[in-house]
Amino acid sequence: MNENNKPDLKVTDAQEKIEILKKKNAIALLGGGVKRIEAQHKKGKLTARERIDLLMDEGTFQELDKFVMHRAKDFGLDKEHYLGDGVVTGYGEINGRLVYVFSQDFTVFGGSLSETHAEKICKIMDMAMKNGAPVIGLNDSGGARIQEGVNSLGGYADLFYRNTLASGVIPQISAIMGPCAGGAVYSPAITDFIFMVENTSYMFVTGPNVVKTVTQENVTAEELGGASAHSTKSGVTHFACSNELECIKHIKKVLSYLPQNCEEVAPIYPYEIQDNEGRIELNNLIPENPNHPYDIRDAITGIVDEDSFLEIHENYADNIVVGFARIAGRSIGLVGNQPQSMAGVLDNHASTKAARFVRTCDSFNVPLLVLVDVPGFLPGTDQEWNGIISNGAKLLYAFSEATVPRITVITRKAYGGAYDVMNSKHIGADLNFAWPTAEIAVMGAKGASEIIFRKEIAEAEDPEAKLQEKVDDYTAKFANPYRAAYRGFIDEVILPSETRIKLIKAFKMLENKVDKIPRKKHGNIPL
Ligand code: HXC
Repeated sequence: MNENNKPDLKVTDAQEKIEILKKKNAIALLGGGVKRIEAQHKKGKLTARERIDLLMDEGTFQELDKFVMHRAKDFGLDKEHYLGDGVVTGYGEINGRLVYVFSQDFTVFGGSLSETHAEKICKIMDMAMKNGAPVIGLNDSGGARIQEGVNSLGGYADLFYRNTLASGVIPQISAIMGPCAGGAVYSPAITDFIFMVENTSYMFVTGPNVVKTVTQENVTAEELGGASAHSTKSGVTHFACSNELECIKHIKKVLSYLPQNCEEVAPIYPYEIQDNEGRIELNNLIPENPNHPYDIRDAITGIVDEDSFLEIHENYADNIVVGFARIAGRSIGLVGNQPQSMAGVLDNHASTKAARFVRTCDSFNVPLLVLVDVPGFLPGTDQEWNGIISNGAKLLYAFSEATVPRITVITRKAYGGAYDVMNSKHIGADLNFAWPTAEIAVMGAKGASEIIFRKEIAEAEDPEAKLQEKVDDYTAKFANPYRAAYRGFIDEVILPSETRIKLIKAFKMLENKVDKIPRKKHGNIPL
């Protein structure tokens, strides 16, 4: 008894209970234990918690379900339990904005996904949906918890389902920071952006051993599904980062261009219009010879706010450039044909790359700026047999259904169907500008002349001179922006140097744009 005549037991009990909680917290922080943490570090990887510490604003992360453990009993699992069950989940802030995060802990059963591990992720995804904030998944997992069988598969499907319902509602970002194999890849695949880390992460549906058995190909995990393969060959990943720190920095940067959810707009950075927004160097960007290349990124950086351009899918389908930037402090999404790669032609990969990006921007109210210098669609059996009809249609469809402010600048060529597809006035663009160097026509002057004057050229005394005469004639008539401007298909022909100020004013004018597509269950984009 103490001096107040109350039993000491309760005081001692309470303190003991506090100690028990502290002990449990300390155990949970160790995940699979010190040895496995060391093994993780030896592989050049951070732990799940270290990654969260780097990602979130200091002191903001609030962990949930720290004491959740699996319920499995088979294959000795009844004797092996870890607090948290291989995934750290919770919420916090990045640059002062609410985000939800899950970070798989490879030190616990190789980060494999059990029924309870999946339940933890589902819980924060449900919260993110209700509260309208992004979800970031840091993936580092051996896949389905093999000992749990179908319970684990069910857990994966619960995630896929939520990823799908959340698509277009809240931004979803996946970072692959270790293995991500088998059906597990389909959760990141549904999200808006995938980041991979070079040399320590890989993604594939079937690994090298199965590949060897089925196709007799000898390939390493890195070759098959490393960051390099997916950033250059498949286009599955949007960013290949040289290490985890860079990856986390990039995630934060991407978030800065996006709103919290589809009902909001991205953060606006303060910007005062300067006396001189002219960019005189742009007047010299287009080469004298219309068949000579230039880098469309020079046009982009000459137009947008300084250091604000973030290219996405940089090493995939580089005949088209996509990325985020800011203009007078406001987020925009950029799509630009790249004349210095395959003359900027639209092919299968470029079309799907751009279509996906246009839809991402439209989902999250990010206005679009489209820079056009396109000689047309790439001809050939490879393109036709691999679906350039459907893939080109995806881009056409994506632009047509986008209701965000949409502005086009034709810098040089806008030929054929590609003129229509690249955010033309006819498919709903709000403002279409052209530089004086623009050439808007059904096709290039030589090809056109060879078709429409074939007979006349063949019968001429000097066919080559005749062809040149026809080419010159066609060029004079169509290789300029004025025919389109006479029809109002181009709203204004502008000097390259004044493009930035024109766009600042145009996007401001379109700031409160309201547009709707006809009511429907959902469209049927030609997938
Ligand atoms: C249970 C697993 C596990 C898994 C790894 N571990 N993967 N436990 N289920 N899927 C455990 C290991 O037993 C080991 O435990 C610890 O995690 C670390 O694994 P290591 O093999 O020592 O690590 P490492 O050498 O780095 O190799 C990592 C790995 C390898 C390449 C991921 O572990 C591996 O191949 N795992 C199996 C991958 C797999 O086949 N998964 C199922 C895919 S099918 P200890 O106690 O020693 O630390 C799938 C279907 C999903 O996922 C379908 C969804 C629709």
